[in-house]
Amino acid sequence: MTIVYEAKMENLFMSNAQTTNGEPKIDTGRSLSALTPKMLSHAAYVTHDVGATVEFYTGIMGMELASSVFDDRIPSTGDAFPYFHVFFRMGDGSTIAFFEAPGLPDPAPPSHPAYKIFDHIALQVDTVEEVQRWRAWLLQHGLELVGPTNHMNELLSIYFHDPNGVRLEITAPLDPHWNRHFDRAYHDLKLWLEAKESARREGRDISAALIDLIRRERSRYQAS
Ligand SMILES: [Fe+2]
Repeated sequence: MTIVYEAKMENLFMSNAQTTNGEPKIDTGRSLSALTPKMLSHAAYVTHDVGATVEFYTGIMGMELASSVFDDRIPSTGDAFPYFHVFFRMGDGSTIAFFEAPGLPDPAPPSHPAYKIFDHIALQVDTVEEVQRWRAWLLQHGLELVGPTNHMNELLSIYFHDPNGVRLEITAPLDPHWNRHFDRAYHDLKLWLEAKESARREGRDISAALIDLIRRERSRYQAS
């Protein structure tokens, strides 16, 4: 692990070359970049009410019901779980998908409320004005939402839930390079892993060491 991220940090640089879509070409110095996934094909969740789900994603989220599957087995594993599978299409062709499976009991509640916050899917729009229009549209349809929230001047987001309890985020980039802060990400990863490792080595409480790190590093945002 150490070798991988340090090698990547050393080799990471921006080249002047442009890709065909006009974005700066990132040369990681590694042949792995040829295997980088191109887009989100689908993120899939369970629903217990496919009718309400279709109504929500087509009527409120503005997505097209784009594909469906019936099967009485999971093709990848062979498990005998009968289901109806639906896909909702977004602007770039990526989709959100759901399975309704007859007789499936409700899931066990999470062991901590944080899971219900951290687990979410964010859908990107182009501008802050669009986030505001989404906010008005969702409120008009009686949805409860939080935000807009400014994330370190990188993203502006609102949050709400679909009828299945999936936490959704509508977000617009405030920083067009929000997902290209490679050096910061690898640097922060190094801090995190080293804090864990040194706490473990010295027999200190790992959570406390990580919370110290978080509080120390988050001051970078307050200072700016
Ligand atoms: Fe998010």
